[in-house]
Amino acid sequence: MPLFAILTLFPEALEPYTRESILGVAQTKGLAKILLVDLRDFTRDRHRTVDDRPFGGGPGMLLKPEPIVEAVEWLEAKHGRFRKFATCPTGRTFRQTVADEIAREERVLILCGRYEGFDDRVRELCGFEDLSLGDFVLSGGELPALTIVEAAVRLLPGVLGNEESVAADSFQKDGLLDHPQYTRPRVFRGLEVPEVLVSGDHAAVQRWRERTARERTRVRRPDLSQNTTSQAKPESPEADHAPDRTT
Ligand SMILES: C[S@@+](CC[C@H](N)C(=O)[O-])C[C@H]1O[C@@H](n2cnc3c(N)ncnc32)[C@H](O)[C@@H]1O
Repeated sequence: MPLFAILTLFPEALEPYTRESILGVAQTKGLAKILLVDLRDFTRDRHRTVDDRPFGGGPGMLLKPEPIVEAVEWLEAKHGRFRKFATCPTGRTFRQTVADEIAREERVLILCGRYEGFDDRVRELCGFEDLSLGDFVLSGGELPALTIVEAAVRLLPGVLGNEESVAADSFQKDGLLDHPQYTRPRVFRGLEVPEVLVSGDHAAVQRWRERTARERTRVRRPDLSQNTTSQAKPESPEADHAPDRTT
């Protein structure tokens, strides 16, 4: 069973979320295990100190290297080698392709930074790969860690009830965004569900979904569209008679 270890100063903050929804179901079904490791358990002083001032001066504090390295060594001695990621705004951007990669690992360890981050030497000593959630700065790596674990765990076989829903998600199918979706009521506050979706014509529904997914990707994410134009099929004007609020 894949093991996801999260090194954090706030295991109690993460614990309730890991018990709920998809992460909870995956663990109950024995399809994944999430281990929350408190960095303070690897301190040696009375005050359980995990941070210190940066050399060279400047504002803020840094996570000290000793508790991090010792926690990693303890985990690897107990469970074997992990693929190790440090959450960091300067890292490689986390994407669906990275989630796919992580979902194929047997053991994954994620370090949650705090304060101004952590002593840079832990990268080399532990072999961390830096992962960023995007070009913004949070106060800690806890939300990124949960995001990364959830994105990977939902890809594990058997975790979601319906495997097709993963295949149809944004970024999975030909790298496109998902098509628009509707549920009942058929008319809500004057807005009607596109006619084609209630026509019972499965081929027409499929064509509509493909067309609106391509269109939405082109408008919202032209960067993704560039990668998929070679796969895009020519538009067929009669394929869809939906109101045009799909992008
Ligand atoms: C306040 S941030 C440190 C920012 C750092 N001084 C910088 O400017 O790059 C504290 C911690 O939050 C986490 N963090 C903040 N923004 C993040 C992001 N965009 N992606 C991943 N982790 C992030 C990291 O673990 C980081 O060590």
